[in-house]
Amino acid sequence: MTDTERCPVDDLATDYDIFDPDYVRDPVPAWAELRDRCPIAHTERYGGSWMPTRYEDVQAMAKMVPELSSANPGPIVIDPPNEFRDQNRQGYNAAAPITADPPEQSWTRKALLPHFTPKAIAPERSYSEQLCNDLIDGFVDAGSCDGAVDYAQQIPPRVIASKLGVDQSRVDDFIGWVRGVLEFGLTDPELRLKNSDLIRNFFAEEVTARRANPRDDLITALCQTEVDGRALPDEVIIGMCNLQLVAGIDTTWSSIGSALWHFATHDDDRRRMADADDALWDTAIEELLRFYSPVTMARNAIETVEYGGITMEPGDKVLMNFPGANHDPEVFDDPDTLILDRQRNRHIAFGAGIHRCAGSNLARMEMEVSLRTWFSRIPEFTLGDPDAVTWAGGQVRGPRILPIVIG
Ligand code: HEM
Repeated sequence: MTDTERCPVDDLATDYDIFDPDYVRDPVPAWAELRDRCPIAHTERYGGSWMPTRYEDVQAMAKMVPELSSANPGPIVIDPPNEFRDQNRQGYNAAAPITADPPEQSWTRKALLPHFTPKAIAPERSYSEQLCNDLIDGFVDAGSCDGAVDYAQQIPPRVIASKLGVDQSRVDDFIGWVRGVLEFGLTDPELRLKNSDLIRNFFAEEVTARRANPRDDLITALCQTEVDGRALPDEVIIGMCNLQLVAGIDTTWSSIGSALWHFATHDDDRRRMADADDALWDTAIEELLRFYSPVTMARNAIETVEYGGITMEPGDKVLMNFPGANHDPEVFDDPDTLILDRQRNRHIAFGAGIHRCAGSNLARMEMEVSLRTWFSRIPEFTLGDPDAVTWAGGQVRGPRILPIVIG
């Protein structure tokens, strides 16, 4: 990131900066100002983008397919030069269905969905319960931990590795690769591509191994999947596995971490959850997803699109600001207050339209199991040094350092 890109924001409506430290720490005030003044803002920063802030607009734009295309949109900032574009370099869709438009999006999504129904993820639930207890065993007697590093970050990579059927001992690699793509690589196309390549090469070997020796895991299942009587090509399976890792790790870890941050800093809510019944857990998980929605996606206009008083030209990038939409007062009463038993909560943390999250059952289960297990073992906890807390922002927002004092 250059100094010019980090200069102070003069006017949010024409110059928002999604990497501004204040915005990363708390984007809610910026969305509120924009919603009132300029609901679809534009910036020239990081290669330029449009950012809708109203629920209705984000919903409408998510449904503009394919004119606002998911195919090859690149990360949410900085279009990498051609030599760094994943698809061009490797000649295949790097992470279908999320990086595809119909028809490819439709058949790759159809191949994935059966593996993420509540029934299909039942083994991951018992795995997660054991995992969360084992993680807590590792730090509970010490009286403190890092809620992000020692807990939240450890859960989704192991759960998705278990589902895919890959080596659990590579978890630190998975975390590093995914952060290299979604966090540190966001403004560094070379680093992003290097990590994409590491993931791609890893899964290429796994797919070859499953073709030779089928096992009882998701990679084998995808190798055996047929669409219209034809097996999925290896490159498509590799891309789909890449997506499972990239979509399944940072997102859920961020949601679990944000929830722990919330309860460590809001004593009344923490006490309430320590005695929560099933009904309160259900509404609380949805409210945490709404309030701390981690994921912002991107689309690229492939034709001129007029909408809401703006004109998006071919090549323009649009940020799918699902988190901002979830704080729109037109749709949510008192949107900037977290209400654990909020009854009407049609949040779009998992997106909207044809790309709506295929892993939402798994994500909800991981949040529920990780938080319920935490509360059953650690009902009393507070934030340690508040100045030590760090947040990642941009494509996926959540705490990365989170000191917690237990008891
Ligand atoms: C709290 C955790 C999660 C959140 C907030 C989240 C959010 C999202 C969002 C907003 C989208 C829409 C993308 C778009 O419109 O371009 C999406 C798509 C997707 N997510 Fe998730 N996700 C989470 C966890 C997961 C997990 C655990 C998996 C599975 C391993 C997963 C797999 C996917 C897939 C495959 C898609 C692409 C669907 C398509 O393009 O048809 N996600 N997710």
